[in-house]
Amino acid sequence: MKVLIIGSGGREHALAWKIGRSPRVDKVFCAPGNGGTASIAENVSLAVDNLPGLTQFALDRSIDLTVVGPELPLVLGIVDRFQSQGLSIIGPAAAAARLEGSKIFAKNFMKRHQVPTAACVACDSLEDAMGSIRRAELGFPLVIKADGLAAGKGVVIAEDRQQAESTVERIMRQRVFGEAGERVLLEECLKGREASFLVFCDGEHFLPMVPSQDHKRAFDRDRGPNTGGMGAYSADGILSPEEQREVVEAIVGPTIRGMAAEGSPFRGVLYVGLMLTPGGIKVLEYNVRLGDPEAQPVLFRLENDLVEVLQAIHGQTLDSVRLRWDSACSVCVVMASGGYPGKYPTGKPIRGVGEAEAAGHVKVFHAGTRLQDGQLVTAGGRVLGVTAKDRDLPSAIARVYRALERVRFEPMHFRTDIGSQGLN
Ligand code: AMP
Ligand code: GLY
Repeated sequence: MKVLIIGSGGREHALAWKIGRSPRVDKVFCAPGNGGTASIAENVSLAVDNLPGLTQFALDRSIDLTVVGPELPLVLGIVDRFQSQGLSIIGPAAAAARLEGSKIFAKNFMKRHQVPTAACVACDSLEDAMGSIRRAELGFPLVIKADGLAAGKGVVIAEDRQQAESTVERIMRQRVFGEAGERVLLEECLKGREASFLVFCDGEHFLPMVPSQDHKRAFDRDRGPNTGGMGAYSADGILSPEEQREVVEAIVGPTIRGMAAEGSPFRGVLYVGLMLTPGGIKVLEYNVRLGDPEAQPVLFRLENDLVEVLQAIHGQTLDSVRLRWDSACSVCVVMASGGYPGKYPTGKPIRGVGEAEAAGHVKVFHAGTRLQDGQLVTAGGRVLGVTAKDRDLPSAIARVYRALERVRFEPMHFRTDIGSQGLN
């Protein structure tokens, strides 16, 4: 069969690598892909939001199955569009993708279905928001979120009233996140440990993946600005069996049943961002896709043929699948261009990827890379996700950092503490 993967990040390289290993697959396309997918798939130069172009490509090339990486095409309705043309595609329809596309929709949904989450106030106007801040309804620090998609950057934690006021001013009046700032959500600031819980869903049945955790801040010890993710790891111990049961019973089950009951059954991968608070486990956010970089360490541990799982989602027979996981721990360290998440140069030669992988149990997933006259060069902020697994977390961390020493490009920045939160 022919599979099309939409996206260009480390997550999509990991998908292409895993899907390409399936005996069911003859050919993989990646739109637009990156320097890593170029060597295992055919890159197609179509942007992820070019819905007419992607649909036409899938029709022309008789694509059997399309897998969507990022949220933007899902929120724009790529699944509805493909299905109306009789094309098979994995991901939620636009109505279900609202769980990520509108934070206010997600909060109202959680209220309707008693899914535990932070207390919040949704504000349609600057005056509403200023009023709520003045009355200190949710206390300080206060979490402020632009309602719509803001490429993972639409969340600000304001320490006091003054910072909260200037933040809503920037989001709602200056529109620093564009239209996403038409409405804002003010949220109680939760304290605790964070975890990512990803679940395959077919609309009715669901299968949880192994737990993972990402590291969103740019610098060691969670300092500096938020990024798309500087690394992630997966270890069974991130959530105890009791905690996993709590997540499934109090959060995932009600979410999947709630979406189905409201006429928007969720098909694809549901990503639940969790905070383990002293008052129980609460939802920070829903995403409607695999996490990036969580997909890299999680898919690295998956032993099943991923295409079999995707076909079961499509056929709504996920209850007939049993997931098998490598009991090892896996760690993915993102190697970024120096300067990221701010300004950074591109077009810099990358060396040592093959040497890094030679050690064994190591895979280097590409994100911002491209091939230029046969030479691999940098092409984005997050460049590579070096991923390794080993029998326990300390060994996996040691292995990934040993491998990473082999890779060279300038200027380079990476965190030296990925996975260390799991050691405590
Ligand atoms: P989100 O895009 O909603 O996941 O938010 C990005 C990050 O902001 C999360 O990973 C958390 O670290 C933080 N965050 C979001 N909501 C809250 C909250 N209610 N309390 C504390 N931290 C939060
Ligand atoms: N790793 C966070 C995200 O994919 O949104």
